Amino acid sequence: MRRRQILAAGALATTTAAVGPAAVAAPAPSGRTTPPGNGSTTPPGLATKDTLAFAAGDVLAIGCAVAGGGHHLSQPYPAPFTHDETYRAVLAAEFTSLSAENQMKWDHLRPSRDAFDFTDADAIMEFAAQNGLVVRGHTLMWHNQIPAWVTEGEHSPEELRAILKEHIETVVGRYAGRMQQWDVVNEIFDDAAVLRTEGNIWIRELGPEIIADCFRWAHAADPQALLFVNDYNVEGINPKSDAYYALIQDLLADGVPVHGFSTQGHISIRYGFPSDLAENLQRFADLGLQTAITELDVRMDLPEGGRPTEEQLAKQAEYHRLVVEAAVSVEGCRSLTLWGVLDKYSWVPGTFPGEGAATVLWDDFTRKPAYDAVQDALAEASGRAGHPALRS
Ligand code: G3I
Repeated sequence: MRRRQILAAGALATTTAAVGPAAVAAPAPSGRTTPPGNGSTTPPGLATKDTLAFAAGDVLAIGCAVAGGGHHLSQPYPAPFTHDETYRAVLAAEFTSLSAENQMKWDHLRPSRDAFDFTDADAIMEFAAQNGLVVRGHTLMWHNQIPAWVTEGEHSPEELRAILKEHIETVVGRYAGRMQQWDVVNEIFDDAAVLRTEGNIWIRELGPEIIADCFRWAHAADPQALLFVNDYNVEGINPKSDAYYALIQDLLADGVPVHGFSTQGHISIRYGFPSDLAENLQRFADLGLQTAITELDVRMDLPEGGRPTEEQLAKQAEYHRLVVEAAVSVEGCRSLTLWGVLDKYSWVPGTFPGEGAATVLWDDFTRKPAYDAVQDALAEASGRAGHPALRS
């Protein structure tokens, strides 16, 4: 039977973190089995390669968002990435790719017109390099999390264009050769599949042509990085993903260096699973693009008391399994990222009151069924399903 217990309490070989056994001995929520500790300072997951990274092999990069900035700023806990050593160890041990949850967004990087603050972004890049992980950059042109000096500044279109160009050249150029993928434009269509010509300041002030320019500037700054369009609610074939399908064909016809289409994957078991996910990704692959799942989490309506039922956890696991199976079935889908790994750091409860439990681990780093579903599906795809490290 598969071990369902301790994750990386001390990936000491790969980080400078000093993590003691106490870090994994936190009590589990009642209603589920708390596995016994193994009495060793080397957690079994690490000793046996019983990780998502190992299960994935070279099938695809299995990633996680690095918690920080955004909603974390108003939470009572200290900054996760700089203060939670167990969490850092898990990132290093379980994943082969990292994404900046907020640390590479405008509000984080740009305190003023004349200044860049790369402190947190650089820390992610350094951690990734130290641990042999690739990085997805998120994001260069978005309607959200733009500092007031941009949104409230009285810039002419020419000035605004120069500001955006300088930003992309500086940020992409700083990490040139070290960034696997960039989300160049994020969420440029609204929920009605209409281009955000009002809500996105860049498109509103500079016209839709700015989309192509963003890709051209990014490509010039880092010819090696794969450049993506990224959005939510485009898992299946629907008016919004159709809009991207049409836009990308136009961009490609114009010779714009767009390399990838990615769907975020913020889904809920409240709704049916987008069973045409693979078919949707495949049609973009057929255009010659890479595809990716960039922000997977599977939330649920929490019962009174806040603890999910076994049925909910099983359904969440099934959704994760289906996402992984779809991703690995599409040639050119080489990256699958979880938007967080612990519920205590997840953005979901703050945005969807009454919903949560969207990640694959409990807050004490033990595994939900969803973790096993991801690991099993990855291992099936990589041919490592029968590996002794993945069995107890
Ligand atoms: O805008 C207010 C600001 O005025 C205020 O000072 C500050 C106080 O803490 O809060 C600010 O808003 C927060 C924002 O981050 C900027 O810091 C929001 O409350 C907070 O919910 C928000 O969270 C981030 C969110 O993006 C912003 O849209 C989350 O941490 C981050 O996980 C989330 O990530 C996005 C991806 O980038 C794109 N896809 C969807 C995904 C989930 O929303």
